[in-house]
This record gives sequence, structure tokens and C-alpha cells, in this order.
Amino acid sequence: MNKIIAGNWKNNGNIEFIKNYFDFFLKNKNSNNQIILFPPDLYISQVHSYKVEKNFSVGGQRINSDGGSTHTSGTTSEMFLDNGCDYILIGHSEIRNLSDQYTYSAANDLYNSNGLQAIFCVGENEDSKKSGNTCDVLKKQLEDLCCKDNYPVISSKKAIIAYEPVWAIGTGNTPTIDNISHIHRFIKTYVSENHPFAKEKDIMVLYGGSVNSKNANDILSAPNVDGVLIGGASLDVKEFTTICNLKI
Ligand code: PGA
Repeated sequence: MNKIIAGNWKNNGNIEFIKNYFDFFLKNKNSNNQIILFPPDLYISQVHSYKVEKNFSVGGQRINSDGGSTHTSGTTSEMFLDNGCDYILIGHSEIRNLSDQYTYSAANDLYNSNGLQAIFCVGENEDSKKSGNTCDVLKKQLEDLCCKDNYPVISSKKAIIAYEPVWAIGTGNTPTIDNISHIHRFIKTYVSENHPFAKEKDIMVLYGGSVNSKNANDILSAPNVDGVLIGGASLDVKEFTTICNLKI
């Protein structure tokens, strides 16, 4: 079954890196999986110029339109769409964590996503995991995704959620395969019961947090896992291509 393999480059890469990356990737990719890369904003156009196949898409990492008012800095959904993006990450924990510096609202970004397919990230931190509160934390985060008011422009019928436990991001630690599967089941059930438009068959859940070429096959083969969102390992083109080429 085809899966979503998404690579979040965060604030990494440069012109030469991208050229070398695609020299290798396009020669060695042999996959029907849906591949999505999230480069830094300034390199979206360059990455998009390598979009030679339907199953390769480009996405933006963060809408920053501050409620629509004109201000210095920021990238709006219209700009991502104009540059060929189909997807947008919303609610990545590294952005949620910035809330000490300014008020971040995943609901606001969803409201402004404007035709881009959101990949809505959720995940508990280590304390919540230890105190057994994972599902409560996820429910609270998923409320934004399930609120009808956040879909003013399109009635998005597809919901893509990335389950990324904060304690697994960049640490080399991952939940057990059974845990991933169980939590994805919980997310699918919660969203299908609460999302205003999406039906269960249109709800996809990706796993993210220390995915690499060694653990990707087991994770992708688990029940309820529709794909992976990869940070660090997506910067190594050989690793990323190996994962993209998996046939599950
Ligand atoms: P990681 O990052 O794969 O390096 O753990 C995942 C993410 O931040 O989306």
C-alpha cells in the first residue's frame, strides 16, 4: 500500500545541497509512495523545479500571516500556493514551543491555510507521557483540527495528522511499534467522531520522531500508520531515498 513519506528539512540546506540532493534522488528514487518535502521557504521554488512526478510534492513549514494584517516578515498561504506548495505543516512542536516568545495558535494557522492541505502535528512531551496524560494532551491539540470554524475557505475532506511525541524528536528514541499503532488508532477514532467533514477513510496519521532507514519499515508496516514525517534523516539523501523506496 502506498504511504506518505514526508521530509522536514527545518532550517537546513542551501543551493548546492539541493542540487546534489536531487542529482542523487531523481536517479535512485523508485517508488509509488507519496513523497513530500518541506524545505525552508527561500528554497521552495528551487525544490519545486525538481517536481517531475505526480507523487512528489512540496510543502511549507509554517504560515506566518499574523491574522492577516500587514507586517514585516511572514509568509502567507497564498505565497506558498503561488510557489507550488500543496501542503503546509501546522502545529509542529518546535513552533508550539515558541509560545513563550509570542502567542502561537495552531487554530489561527489552520484558519489561514486557505487551500493548502494541512499536516497537523500533535504530540505529548516527556512529562505528559510519564504522567499517563498522552491521550488528554492529544485530544486538546486535536480540538483545533476538529473545529468547524477553522475551515472558512474550503471544507477540507481529508485530514492528515502527524503524531510526533516531543520526546522522540531528534533524540533517537521512539515509542514501541504497538504504542505507535495504538495512538494512531486513538487519533483516527477521535478525529472521525469530531471532525466536521472528514470520514474515517480520509483520515491519515503519520508518525514522526527519530525515523530512519533502520526503523522505517517496521513503523510503516504497523496497523494505522499511513506514513512518516522525517526530520534529521531526510537531510541525508541516501537515507531518505531508501525510506522512499520501501514497498509496504
Ligand atoms: P526527527 O524530527 O526525525 O529528526 O526526529 C522529526 C520532526 O521534527 O518532524
